[in-house]
Amino acid sequence: MTHDHDHDPASTSLLERQRAHLFFTWSAQRGAKGLEITDAAGARFEVAGKGWVWDLESQVYNVNAGHKHPHIQQRMIAQIQALPACAPAAVLPIRAELGELLAQKTGMAKAFLTTGGSEAVENAIKLARLLTGRTKVITRRNSYHGATLAVLEVAGDMRKQPFTATMRPALHIEDPYPARQAAGEQPSDWLASAEAVIEREGGESIAAILLEGFTGTNGMQHPPADFWPGVRALCDRHGILLIDDEIFSGFGRTGRWFAREHWGVRPDLMTVGKGLSSGYAPLAGVLVSDALAARFDDEVLWCGLTHYAHPISCAAAVGSIEVLEREGLPQNAERVGQVFARRFDEFVERHAHVTGHRGLGLMRALELDRDASELSARAWSLGAYLPQRGPLAFVCPPLCLREHEAEAICELLDRALLELGD
Ligand SMILES: Cc1ncc(COP(=O)(O)O)c(C=O)c1O
Repeated sequence: MTHDHDHDPASTSLLERQRAHLFFTWSAQRGAKGLEITDAAGARFEVAGKGWVWDLESQVYNVNAGHKHPHIQQRMIAQIQALPACAPAAVLPIRAELGELLAQKTGMAKAFLTTGGSEAVENAIKLARLLTGRTKVITRRNSYHGATLAVLEVAGDMRKQPFTATMRPALHIEDPYPARQAAGEQPSDWLASAEAVIEREGGESIAAILLEGFTGTNGMQHPPADFWPGVRALCDRHGILLIDDEIFSGFGRTGRWFAREHWGVRPDLMTVGKGLSSGYAPLAGVLVSDALAARFDDEVLWCGLTHYAHPISCAAAVGSIEVLEREGLPQNAERVGQVFARRFDEFVERHAHVTGHRGLGLMRALELDRDASELSARAWSLGAYLPQRGPLAFVCPPLCLREHEAEAICELLDRALLELGD
């Protein structure tokens, strides 16, 4: 998380100390600034020299259970005291417990646990290649699946741009928005595009179709109704594996445990990360369906990591899943998301530069007729961290946000929009 709007002289020395020896992500280093975060609780964090602000990015869309939840902290502390470090092959109660919880929540048979989302997608691609003996992967043009080279190669996000010269050409489903809905026998343009790319490449050469459960910073576009079922049918017809990337959209973010539940689709593989541990410790993973997992009963699983299923991360994930479950946070995300949806409808009516909004649960975007950076700056001065990309401002707070807090955030955004002027 970086922020350009405020510069607090009191934190300069700390900023300089850190900047001298640690890189900031996704930025030229000279002008890069990070927020000096001194505390956090629930859906807010505290910034040195500024005070408490609403966290509308949940840090990096990952603190689903909310900041500094005592139950997650206690789970982690208990594991730190019991055994904080051990080898990937070691057998531990916390590993067995997380495995069982994941199988129960996802309906998938087995998980391979990684330290981050990109690694999870990378391993999903490796598994798809091992399972099919094929190499090609199809993604949506508007997609992000992580920052490692193999994952950048297949996804559409512009962050691959400096590396494309040495990459294989990506295979994309064109996903114009708004999408033309399926009419009668006519497939929607998204589905027609998926059919066309399979036809062109030859279904027998394609290992997997990799799709975000609900697309994140590439637009939060609602897919046409025929898309997910149509893709599932195409995969079945051609022996292609369907990988559901729920790294952003999973663990309650869209008002369901996983976004694909909105469309009732069954994947072969799925990836999880971010909200899996609510960001309390690094953890992600790829989950495999029963039939596919059985293949590795006798074949070698050519995948491994030093920090595989790290015990402290497993404890954070178990604690976070327990909080999501006990506090009904996916259902809360659905309910509180409706507050934003209703107020954003009003914004479209009242503010000429709000051209639309979309989203599910607490994964929402406001669309402006201009770059949203000024709106983000105004929101910051009024007390909210509002992430943006191009004309989209993203509203993705922790899932513990209450309805009256959502109303307060909407008041703040309303004021920020009024200040935008023409
Ligand atoms: C859908 C999706 N997949 C994969 C990733 C990569 O995860 P990580 O940043 O943990 O490597 C992200 C991160 O934003 C994501 O949103």
